[in-house]
Amino acid sequence: MAITLFLSSGNLIADRRYDFGRDLQLRGDLAGAADLMAQAVELEPGFASAWFSLGDLREQLGERDAAISAYRRAQEADLDDRHGAKLRLMRLGDERMSDMPPGYVRALFDQYAPKFDKTLVNDLDYRGPEILLKAVLAARHAAKLPAHFKCAIDLGCGTGLAAREFGSLVDEFIGIDLSPGMIKQARKTGLYARLEVNDMVRGLQAEADDSANLILAADAVVYVPDIAPLAVEAARVLKPQGLLAFTVETHDGEGVILGQSLRYAHSADYLRDVMTKSKLRVCAIAPASTRLEAGEPVPGLVVTASK
Ligand SMILES: C[S@@+](CC[C@H](N)C(=O)[O-])C[C@H]1O[C@@H](n2cnc3c(N)ncnc32)[C@H](O)[C@@H]1O
Repeated sequence: MAITLFLSSGNLIADRRYDFGRDLQLRGDLAGAADLMAQAVELEPGFASAWFSLGDLREQLGERDAAISAYRRAQEADLDDRHGAKLRLMRLGDERMSDMPPGYVRALFDQYAPKFDKTLVNDLDYRGPEILLKAVLAARHAAKLPAHFKCAIDLGCGTGLAAREFGSLVDEFIGIDLSPGMIKQARKTGLYARLEVNDMVRGLQAEADDSANLILAADAVVYVPDIAPLAVEAARVLKPQGLLAFTVETHDGEGVILGQSLRYAHSADYLRDVMTKSKLRVCAIAPASTRLEAGEPVPGLVVTASK
């Protein structure tokens, strides 16, 4: 899922230097590429894409300090941080772990939106919605409750793959996603009664108490480090016996980390603790991998918790 965001500097010569730099990078000449990026930012000091690429190249060349200063310049040059320089700084240990820049998530998924289904399903063997469906059916079966939901909220709904999977179980779907491009694709499915471009927690905050029977998040909580606010809001918005179900990536250590993939990974103990504190009852936290990376299943968990 590698897409390179390009924001023109507005200066044709600087943009050309950037293009040549990218060509050299693709041919494996990292030092030559870094040289060209340095020339581009010398010509245009506010050229965010060139600063970001310079940071990436310096990082690959093992020049940590130079990478950090280039990423900082990329952040200054684009206050929305659409390249996600902040995440690179977090991964380099130069910044404390915190939320992803919303501008980065939006830019990333707006670019993916038109080819998202094909890339994820065909190339990465994506199984998030299918895993959630099995987990939800198992939780309802164990609780001796019908697997039918009047109102479901799909957090980070993307193009609508989860609504398609849950179609026959849900009367009315509400979709919330940060990316207008993804929402546009979801709208085309005709599966959602309401779609909203919003952060998932803010979107939940706007929903009434005891109003949803099911809250889903397929492969979306991997973009959220602290899930406590989400769990608290889910507990408020769910009707009694309502279900929260989501997938995460996980790791063997404690708490939450930012993985090499630039997605967060949550430990099982952390999830259990957050669910309990938000007064949700954990039904199951089970191993489940939603996708492949470099041909290998990414370690993950599927969580179901009820009100
Ligand atoms: C990997 S996609 C999964 C989409 C969909 N759930 C599916 O299973 O196909 C992750 C989605 O989460 C959305 N997202 C990430 N962070 C978000 C946030 N804080 N609030 C709302 N949506 C978010 C992204 O825009 C993207 O559409």
